[in-house]
Order: sequence, then C-alpha cells, then structure tokens
Amino acid sequence: MKLEKSSRFAPCPGPIVTIVLDGVGISPREDGDAVKTARTPMLDKLMANFPMTALRAHGTAVGMPSDEDMGNSEVGHNAIGAGRVFAQGAKLVAESIASGNLWQGRAWHEIVAAAKQGGTLHFIGLFSDGNVHSHIDHLRAMLEQARKEGVSKVRIHILLDGRDVGETSALDYVDPFEAFLDGLRSPAFDVAIASGGGRMTITMDRYEAHWAMVQRGWDIHVRGEGRQFASAHEAIVTYRNELKVIDQDLPGFVIAKDGKPLGPIVDGDAVVFFNFRGDRAIEISRAFTEENFTAFPRGPLSKVTYAGMMQYDGDTKLPPRFLVQPPAIDRTMGEYLAKNGIAQYAISETQKYGHVTYFWNGNRTGKFDDTLETYVEIPSDVVPFEQRPWMKCAEITDTLIDAVRSGKYRYLRVNYANGDMVGHTGNFEAAVTAMQGLDLQLARLIPVILEAKGTAIITADHGNADEMYELDKKGNVSRDAEGRAKAKTSHTLNPVPFVLISGEPEPAFKLREDLATPGLSNMAATVLNLLGFEAPADYDPSLIEPA
Ligand code: 3PG
Ligand code: CO
Repeated sequence: MKLEKSSRFAPCPGPIVTIVLDGVGISPREDGDAVKTARTPMLDKLMANFPMTALRAHGTAVGMPSDEDMGNSEVGHNAIGAGRVFAQGAKLVAESIASGNLWQGRAWHEIVAAAKQGGTLHFIGLFSDGNVHSHIDHLRAMLEQARKEGVSKVRIHILLDGRDVGETSALDYVDPFEAFLDGLRSPAFDVAIASGGGRMTITMDRYEAHWAMVQRGWDIHVRGEGRQFASAHEAIVTYRNELKVIDQDLPGFVIAKDGKPLGPIVDGDAVVFFNFRGDRAIEISRAFTEENFTAFPRGPLSKVTYAGMMQYDGDTKLPPRFLVQPPAIDRTMGEYLAKNGIAQYAISETQKYGHVTYFWNGNRTGKFDDTLETYVEIPSDVVPFEQRPWMKCAEITDTLIDAVRSGKYRYLRVNYANGDMVGHTGNFEAAVTAMQGLDLQLARLIPVILEAKGTAIITADHGNADEMYELDKKGNVSRDAEGRAKAKTSHTLNPVPFVLISGEPEPAFKLREDLATPGLSNMAATVLNLLGFEAPADYDPSLIEPA
C-alpha cells in the first residue's frame, strides 16, 4: 500500500484539516434554509474568497439505489474516506431479495429452522421507507418468505421513524401494514405487531451515547414490559394526544391482549434485526449476542437465534450471524495514510464520533496504527438538541486547535454535528442558532490552521439544516391549517460545499473545472494530492490540478 510521491503536487507545508459540517447542504431556495438564514460572517467570507464548488452527496453518487434517495452520514463518510463509491446496504439488501440470494444463505436457513422448531420469529427494526437504516419493503418480503417456508408464528417490533421520513408519518406506515398483515394471516400463520416506540427513545442509540435507550427497548421488545395497548395505532394516537411529540420521540409500547403481551422474546425464538446500517444496530445486537454483557442488567444470555440484516462490525464480527454481506470497503484513505507513516487525528462529539472513525474507515472500529493515529471523542450532552443547539462545537474546537498547534499531525479531520442533529429536531430557530454557533468556531479554527501554514477543507456529508420545511410535490412549502410551515426533520437531496482554504498567497493548485458531477468520493484523492501523493489509480479523481 505504498503511495507514490507526486511529481505534480508539492506537499502542503502545514497540516491538512477536513472540516465536516454534518448536515449542512446548499439549498437552491431561501425559505426554510437555516444555513442561509443564520448570520455566518466567517463562512460567508470563506465561501466568497476561496475556491469553492458543490459536491453531490446523495443517491447514486454515494452508492444508494437511486437518485431519489437522500444522502446520509454512513454513505457520505464512507465515500469521503474511501475515495470511491461502493454499492451500499440499501442497494445490496434490495438486490439480495430481488435475486432470491437472501433466502439461500445460511443465516436465513438457521432463522427459519429455529422458528420451525417451535420458536417465534421476531423482526425488530426501523419501520419506514427512509432507506437510511432500513426499508419496510425488506420486512414485507421477509414476512412473505417466512410464510411461504412454513413458519407459523411471527411477531414484529416496530421502531417509529419521523427522522428519515415525515415527522408525524407513523400511521402512514402502520395502517397499510396492518392491512398487509391481515392479508397474510391464516390459521397456519399467526402474525402481529408486538411492541414498538420512537427510534430516539428506545433501542436505536449509537456510539454508546445513552445505553438507557437500549435498556428501555430491551424491556419493551424482549420482556414485554411497558405500557400496554390493543394496537400500534392506538398507542400512537394515545401518546400523540397526551404528549404532543413527533414520531421519533414517542415512548415505547407493548401490544397486549387481556393483559398478556403478544410477543415477548423467549428461549428458542429467532430474531432478525432488519436495519442494514450499523451505528444504531450495534448496541442492541451486543445485548442479544454477548455472553458477558454489562451495559445494563440484561440477565443471562437467552438462547435466541439472532441475525442482523448485515454484519455491523467486521472487526468484532458483530453480529456473527447476518443475512447480507456488507459492502467490502477496502483501502480507505485512513489506511493508506497510516501505512505511509502519516500521523492522523480525528475528533468529534459522541453523536458523530463513529462517523469520523468507524464510517470514515469503511465501517471498521479500530485504528490502523495506534502509534500514528489519535482519535478524540468529546462526550455529547444527553438532552434534546433543540435545547442545546451549540452542542459541543466549542469544546471540539478547543481540543482541535491544540492538536493543530501541536504540529504532531499531518492530516486532521473533524465532524461538527450541529447542522444535522439540530436539523433532525425540525426546530428552525434552533437550527439557525446551531449554524451561528458553528460559524464562531470556524472563526477561531481557520486562523489557527492558516498560522500553521495549513490547508482547510470545509465540506459536509449531506444536507439537512438547509431545508427545514417539508415541501409538497409542486415544491411549495407544506402548511398546516393555521398556515404554519410543516417541519422537515430528514436529510435533503442537496449538494454540499467544498471550500478549499489555504494561506499561501499563490497556492500551487487550483480547482479542476472539467469534472462533470464531482461528489464526496472525489475528496480523498484531493487530500492525498495536498499531502504530496498521487492517489491510487482506482480512486475517483482529485478535485484539484496544478495551478
Ligand atoms: C440518524 O441516525 O440520526 C438518522 O437516521 C440519519 O442521520 P445521519 O445519517 O446524519 O447519522
Ligand atoms: Co442526520
């Protein structure tokens, strides 16, 4: 994995710093754009005075099945870190179902076999067509196949979305799905929703930010302990009336008949966790598969046949049983740099820590070289982020400035979570504040990078805060009966900025203008060039050329 020294690019004298403003895209409109609405004098100045272009960050440009698919942090950071586009989970699972390969695999056979030996087959996962973590069509296909193969009892545990899809869309999924189950149900096939809850209250924590969420999910899905309702529809309507919260924040619920939960998970059962994306699937998968598990009082490991839709972590082999092979992302920029003796630094707060390490490195948890790499996690607040839109951006900047000044690192990367995490709350004012907080940090950080004779890249993994209002099919802002704009909590299809900031009066490079549709995957080769290397031949082309 030796990198070739470039004869075209001299290494930049100081450190190269990639600054990912998570969820900060470039919207063509004005209304509902928290990025444009915010007062961001530093970002404005940088964009006006330094070379800048827009990068594609959604759809096929990041390995999603189609250009209707928005980008997300997993596929975005994978493309940034790997310098190439790999077919991603959403696409691989859909293909595996369409070809029938999924049903031929050992994992599916073992799941069905366990269920046919008297166990119940359970499905747990994110219940929407967001295609970021999961797709409801995959669940439907597995239910039809299980029935075809003679499984007799199935229970479904639904995590309500409202974060990758409309904020109050749960019933648009639940009601037609109940009708679908009615069509499948027969004396020989007993199928029902057994439990559920909002994805930000139970089960889908990530990066160990808040294990209590997973524990709550465990109690609801596995033990059948929680507030009881006759149906998921009833639970959703009741909670909405009582609490006025959006879907992702709905509390957990248990479906019960005569006080008896419909589907606790017991020894002998089979469980499929049907999310294909790993970050929010790892903790619950650990609870189901680890012998010595201490994150919460789970009790002894149950004798359950557990499969993930994919393997979520190739290093730790988690979970050991999985239905579809994950994308084989290899030879990432991080690995090349480590193997060529380049010291690297990565920093973010908990909510995005895995994005600049695990996703960046092609979904690997570990480092390539302990002596050359430093990874820093600043603990995130555990509060609704509309209440703390500044999150930990100042603390991250404090630490990053020290790292730049230390002179120890040739390549540094940072993810600021604000645009995305606050964007997901749907709170426009908070998203504007988030952007203003970020701008203050850029105003501190950029001069330090330039003082160190470094080069900074400001970019993002996908859009979010750039579109805070739901649009209708005609592209107009959707409004409720009182004329209030309907909040949009999900990512956008917009491109993201690429701003190249260098302190040299006459940098020896300039942006290429001949790339038709540059995207996130063009950034890795760019960084390698700035470090004075040629990129590997199969990396997507660099965004720069000698001036
Ligand atoms: C989440 O997991 O929070 C959302 O589904 C996607 O957000 P991310 O891709 O920005 O992490
Ligand atoms: Co996001």
